Parts: sequence; C-alpha cells; structure tokens
Amino acid sequence: MTALLAGKVVVVTGAASGIGRAIAVGVAQHGAKAVVVSDLVEAPREGGPTTTSEIQSLGVPAIFVRTNVSQRAEVDALLAESEQFGGVDLMVCNAGITLRSDGADVAEDDYRRLMSVNLDGVLFSAQAAARQMQALSKPGSIVLMASMGGVSGAGMTVAYSTSKGGVVLMAKALADALGPSGIRVNSVCPGTIDTALLRNTPGVAEASEGFRQRTPLRRLGKPSEIADAVVWLGSDMSSYVTGVPLLVDGGLLSVL
Ligand SMILES: NC(=O)c1ccc[n+]([C@@H]2O[C@H](COP(=O)([O-])OP(=O)(O)OC[C@H]3O[C@@H](n4cnc5c(N)ncnc54)[C@H](O)[C@@H]3O)[C@@H](O)[C@H]2O)c1
Repeated sequence: MTALLAGKVVVVTGAASGIGRAIAVGVAQHGAKAVVVSDLVEAPREGGPTTTSEIQSLGVPAIFVRTNVSQRAEVDALLAESEQFGGVDLMVCNAGITLRSDGADVAEDDYRRLMSVNLDGVLFSAQAAARQMQALSKPGSIVLMASMGGVSGAGMTVAYSTSKGGVVLMAKALADALGPSGIRVNSVCPGTIDTALLRNTPGVAEASEGFRQRTPLRRLGKPSEIADAVVWLGSDMSSYVTGVPLLVDGGLLSVL
C-alpha cells in the first residue's frame, strides 16, 4: 500500500494471532523488506492461513521462529534469525497474556506467569533487539505493546494492569537509555480490540459491550488499526517520537 517501511526488517512476537498477526501482515503491506514472525505456535488462534503464508503471498520474505518470550535464550535466538535479512530495524514486542482469574486476590502462580510474559518477555525482546541494533549501528525503532489498562487501572485485571503500566514506563526508561544510540522506543496502548484474547478473557469479554458504548467512536477497534499505529512508529514519519505511550482506543480514556 505504501513504501513507509521500505528496506526495513521487522520482527514481531506473538504474531501468529490477533494484533501481532495484523502487525506482521501490515508491515509487509507497507513495504517491509522481510518479516520474522514469532510465537509459541504457528497456527492462528482465530483459524485461517498462517501469518507467514499471508505475508509470503504479498511477495515479501517471511519466516516463522518458535519462541517463548519469557525465555531469554529463545529471544536471543529469535534475533539471531533476523541476521539472515541484515538484522532488525523494527522490533515489535507484542506477545502478552491475560488471566482467567485476575483481580485483587490474584493467585501468586498466575501473577508470576503473567509477569514472565508481559514484563520479562517484553524486556528480553527489547534488550535483544537493542543489542543487535547497537552492534550493527542501526537507528532502529522498538515498539512495546502495552494497553489502555496500563494507563488506567481496572479492578478485574489487577495483575494485567500492573504489567501494562510497567510496559509504559519501560518504554520511557528504554527511550532514555537507547536514544543516544539513535534507537527510539515507544509503547502502544490499545483500547478494546476484537481478538481471541478479548473474547476469551472472563469479565473483560462481558465488559466489552459497556466499553463500546462509552467509546466516543462507539465501536471496538480492529487489529489492523493497531497495526497502522505500529507502522507509523516504525517509519521515519515518527523520527522525533520516542518514549511515548500512544493510545489507540477510539477515545475511550479521553472521556468521563
Ligand atoms: N485485544 C485487546 O483488546 C488488547 C487490548 C490492549 C492490549 N492488548 C495487547 O495486545 C497484545 C496482543 O493481544 P491480542 O489481543 O492479539 O491477543 P491474542 O491472544 O490474540 O494473541 C497473542 C499472541 O501472543 C502469543 N503468546 C502468548 N504467550 C506467549 C509467549 N510466552 N511467547 C510468545 N508468544 C506468546 C499467543 O500465542 C498469541 O498468538 C497483547 O500484549 C495484549 O495484552 C490487547
């Protein structure tokens, strides 16, 4: 559709399904040179063709690398795979989970499992990308997937909100640490986006109709609308933007 990402190699975690899948396909549509698709499993949660085959059908090289982002060694191996295309220019740390039971009394095991993906996994992914960008002297862009739940708290998602608030601050701190190397780090905070995660999270699924009614645009968001924001943050059109939490929520957090 555009050449906004011409020549750029993109790595996306959690890219088999949902928002990550839309991002991986979206960057290919906007001219990416190659896309490294990474996830625990290759099959999309919502069914249909794999992300890699969709990208390849656009004529863009794509590979799938099985990665559990909570394991540092696996994330390092993922970034090593991007070297066959010349190394990563845009790293999208998107993989994240919710809990079936979250709230003020969240169980310790669940809390630690969620943090290992939503915080450890995002940090490990950003670190591995930054190390490679610095080694190759690339002025890259790193996008961390946060949430509107990382800007405002919700009682039904105490652990999730805590993790996503951490991601928002992580982007600010990394922007400071990596800015002198020419590396930009921003977070994206989606509102209610119609994916399997939203539909399968107890409490959130039921609340989504209420969110929709309170959203100024009166609809849920589409994964492709998050992808568009990531394309902009990965492109040179946002060359002076770093440390920002970018809300893509139909206006939900802007109104009482
Ligand atoms: N859907 C929403 O309304 C919404 C709103 C705000 C933020 N988000 C965030 O957007 C991101 C994507 O969410 P989604 O709605 O597309 O969810 P999804 O469940 O559809 O997709 C998430 C993907 O991450 C993968 N994943 C889970 N654990 C992983 C791990 N340890 N290592 C690697 N991959 C792993 C899953 O296999 C899945 O393919 C998440 O970080 C989520 O918190 C979603």
